[in-house]
Amino acid sequence: MEFSVKSGSPEKQRSACIVVGVFEPRRLTNVAEQLDVISEGYISNLLRRGDLEGKAGQVLLLHHVPNVPSERVLLVGCGKERELNERQYKQIIAKTIQTLNETGSMEAVCFLTELHVKGHDTYWKVRQAVEAANDTIYNFYQLKTKKQAPRRPLRKMVFNVSTRKELTLGEKAIEHGTAISAGVLLAKDVSNMPPNICNPKYLNEQSIELAETYSTLKVETVGEEKMAELEMNSYLAVGRGSDNESIMSIIHHKGAPDDQAPIVFVGKGLTFDSGGISIKPGAQMDEMKYDMCGASAVLGLMKTVAELNIPLNIIGVVAGCENMPDANAYRPGDILTTMSGQTVEVLNTDAEGRLVLCDALTYVERFEPEAVIDIATLTGACVIALGQHATAVLSSHNPLAHELINASDQSSDRAWRLPLWDEYQEHIESPFADMANLGGRPAGTITAACFLSRFTKKYNWAHLDIAGTAWLGGAKKGATGRPVPMLTQYLLNKAGVMNED
Ligand code: BES
Ligand code: MN
Ligand code: ZN
Repeated sequence: MEFSVKSGSPEKQRSACIVVGVFEPRRLTNVAEQLDVISEGYISNLLRRGDLEGKAGQVLLLHHVPNVPSERVLLVGCGKERELNERQYKQIIAKTIQTLNETGSMEAVCFLTELHVKGHDTYWKVRQAVEAANDTIYNFYQLKTKKQAPRRPLRKMVFNVSTRKELTLGEKAIEHGTAISAGVLLAKDVSNMPPNICNPKYLNEQSIELAETYSTLKVETVGEEKMAELEMNSYLAVGRGSDNESIMSIIHHKGAPDDQAPIVFVGKGLTFDSGGISIKPGAQMDEMKYDMCGASAVLGLMKTVAELNIPLNIIGVVAGCENMPDANAYRPGDILTTMSGQTVEVLNTDAEGRLVLCDALTYVERFEPEAVIDIATLTGACVIALGQHATAVLSSHNPLAHELINASDQSSDRAWRLPLWDEYQEHIESPFADMANLGGRPAGTITAACFLSRFTKKYNWAHLDIAGTAWLGGAKKGATGRPVPMLTQYLLNKAGVMNED
């Protein structure tokens, strides 16, 4: 979809549809008021008759409103004016886009960006609207044989801002929001792709394709042979039960001189996690195709980074692997020597993500990074702790943890910090090896992060557990593309892109 901003009064707009808000109970916003005046009370009359109360998410589509040059006017309920918050704002935008998409307006001028959302400026409102709009129109129909798209989909959206001065902010917001949406879209598509298509090789091909599209990107590929040379035995062990070769793709974005230390992202890319010999129960096992959402978030993020040409050196590692049971598969009881030299006793082959990540995290030491952030659908315990609403942040480096939490607040892509105290390290002691790959049921998200922390001593590191946020189950099943918005915000902040205001 195409977006633009302009500044002008509603009665002069000539468009397929103009979108204006109504607060509860039946209170016109300024813009709706202006339309009401030129239509000689047409809108207030309707409201008086009870056609629209103004509750958040209510909509009423009007045709040929007297003296209004646009074909349609879409009234959108915005709830109580004083209660309008971030979440409601995004829901209102989503409802608007869905309605427009289903009712044949191929373009629209939207005045909802003039609403007052506490603590947020025009930049935020326009960017969130772009992201929410793209989220709403997303579908994954590639593998259906019948076309399902709406007949007259919404193609063009103009956001109105109240003053000319705000146009620059609005344009920046569209640029950033569009780049973030492009990354989110890629992350969603790769995540939703079924595991018989999306295997480690597919993830590698996606990385190569990205690098062919953007001149700032370059890819290195590390397959099983190279992993064996590097003694990445833990990573290799996880993939041994699968016929699909384990492949790690390293995507480099050069946005600054070579002497600037890179920021590195490492994504867990289990294209299918059956649990291995410690096989999972059957219910919802199909959702374990989403166990590569860390990797797809890295792909999406690198796309956004390249689109915006962020002036930093950034490296994305896609750690592709498949966990299957097989005669050759690794077993509970095995002791593995990781690339770092530390040994690990495998207590459960379903705690495989950390075994792949630990070697990838050792591998990235060579880049002498400024910071390393890994992103992983690592623990079911994270879904129990935070549900689908927040990504878990774990870090031993307070400044980095704060930067990430701030970025999540700013981007409205929520994250919450969990502790990583030494006490939890005791849970993963092993009688036979340096550590076990499992800490028992209590604090499962934290003990998994404790495991990773033992491989990240040489740099500043944070771990994001996206087990709850990367995809939705049930009726709305599908990938979310999170945490691409939050990580983009982190990088924009690092690069000082928005420092002028
Ligand atoms: N990929 C799973 C974690 C997961 C499960 C994410 C369900 C989202 C939904 C991970 O590899 C796993 O199986 N973890 C185990 C660890 C346990 C064996 C210590 C888990 O969480 O049960
Ligand atoms: Mn597992
Ligand atoms: Zn897994």
